[in-house]
Amino acid sequence: MRLPRRVRMVEVGPRDGLQNEAQIVSAATRVGLIDRLSEAGLAIVESGSFVSPKWIPQMADTAEVLARIARKLGVSYPVLVPNMTGFEAALASRVEEIAIFAAASESFSRRNINCSIAESLDRFAPVAEAAARAGMRVRGYVSCVVDCPYEGPITPAAVADVAAKLLNLGCYEISLGDTIGTGTPGRIQAMIDAVASAVPLDRLAVHFHDTWGQALANILASLEKGVAVVDSSVAGLGGCPYAKGATGNVASEDVLYMLEGLGIGTGVDLVRLAAAGRWISAELGREPSSKVSRALAAKSA
Ligand code: HMG
Ligand code: MG
Repeated sequence: MRLPRRVRMVEVGPRDGLQNEAQIVSAATRVGLIDRLSEAGLAIVESGSFVSPKWIPQMADTAEVLARIARKLGVSYPVLVPNMTGFEAALASRVEEIAIFAAASESFSRRNINCSIAESLDRFAPVAEAAARAGMRVRGYVSCVVDCPYEGPITPAAVADVAAKLLNLGCYEISLGDTIGTGTPGRIQAMIDAVASAVPLDRLAVHFHDTWGQALANILASLEKGVAVVDSSVAGLGGCPYAKGATGNVASEDVLYMLEGLGIGTGVDLVRLAAAGRWISAELGREPSSKVSRALAAKSA
């Protein structure tokens, strides 16, 4: 089995995780989480979204969060941006990177951002151009790369098509999202094969929700295909407000433990990461859903 020697971990907990909390998490708590994650060695900590507060009230204080975090040199704090209104807010907050987010499913696109896939790409084009002029990096997401909660199975060709269009808009990386976590390793590899015919492998990331418990297996299957960037969420926080029943992202602690076991370097410290996960879980009044975090706690008890 040939695997990458290093993997870049993209932490999405403060955005993908907290956007799905029933309770509104205060800006102070979001700041506390982001700072703990950067201290754990994560070089990319997705920190919020500049989206409509009517759609996602949990991310409403993103400007305040970005103003208060202790920005570490070499750490990027990207935010999701759906349109030019969001871009202007990101610019004002001095972020170095934004993420635009499309879907491979028409129905999900309409539910999530209230427009068709084609309209969303038209909306993202000026955002990507403005970001390039401002010297900001742009990451692209494709949601529903395996199944859609409204349409069912999505063809790999549909995923490849949207991924290629995001690449053409200037995205430096495309993150492939199994939004409802139904994918299994064989389907993931077939999807990556299709996307890799349109987008170079070294421009791809994977983003797994763990609803069906397949995320670690799917990550390993993706590494085998040569993908070396993995999104995850500390303590397994998260879900998607427009994908009913979808649980959190794969837990960052579990991903890191697996990568360490495979001898793959990340630059992230497991003890500090697990401490960050326990801290935010305590703030939210529950146990981390990360099995590694629970095992570490049991071992030290
Ligand atoms: P719309 O209602 O069609 O937009 O929503 P609109 O342009 O008609 O504006 C409606 C109102 O929103 C207006 O305010 C705008 O000013 C305001 P009003 O006049 O009613 O007071 N507005 C904004 N406010 C702040 N920031 C903005 C902004 N834009 C408009 N940027 C829109 C369209 C895209 C705005 C809306 O659908 C939206 O915000 N959607 C966001 C949904 C979202 O964030 N979903 C979760 C992230 S995606 C995800 O989790 C998947 C991922 O993790 C990968 C995976 O797992 O698959 C990435
Ligand atoms: Mg997600």
